[in-house]
Amino acid sequence: MEAKQASALENLAKETCSCTKCPLRSGCNGVVFGEGNPASPVMFVGEGPGQTEDELGRPFVGKAGQLLDKILQAADLPRGDVYITNIVKCRPPGNRTPTAEEMNACLPWLRLQFAIIRPKYIILLGLAATHGILGADIPTMKSCRGQWFERKGVKIMPTYHPAALLRNPQFKKPVWEDFIVIRDAVKGTGAGNQNVSNTGKEES
Ligand code: URA
Repeated sequence: MEAKQASALENLAKETCSCTKCPLRSGCNGVVFGEGNPASPVMFVGEGPGQTEDELGRPFVGKAGQLLDKILQAADLPRGDVYITNIVKCRPPGNRTPTAEEMNACLPWLRLQFAIIRPKYIILLGLAATHGILGADIPTMKSCRGQWFERKGVKIMPTYHPAALLRNPQFKKPVWEDFIVIRDAVKGTGAGNQNVSNTGKEES
């Protein structure tokens, strides 16, 4: 199954390269599709590639990515065991937040990734990914972080983006608390399905 998923992801990645659904592709080096375990029970979804990611064609490999790697390692969820991608696959100019239109244009690619990987858990890193998946009516990260939302049997948790942690070290504690819950859920050692909220936009 894993080999089939890997090959389906490879084919999908090739398709994304010719995407013209929004203007971002024409302003960046290339599509940053995502990477990791094609059969991972958990997917991490960030905002969009930054400069380093755009240069290297890989998600979360700059400073924020290095911090994410450390958190994953500390939570006993090594990067190679999980799948990491972004809500938009092309770098927004100057690293600005992707617009709702750009996120909506890119969402079909993410949905296809979900359909291939079939994760049990999706972790949304930051407000852009949270708005793209759960709806723009979520006012702040503080109001939703650490909570499980459920869509079509998949548990979804927003948490702070690692770049926010670099700017605001006070977010380290809540993020670590969230990652303990994520780890326990993924490894089946904790109450991963408690406090499920059903508000927000439909995810598919
Ligand atoms: N920030 C993101 O949201 N995604 C990346 O891939 C890198 C930095």
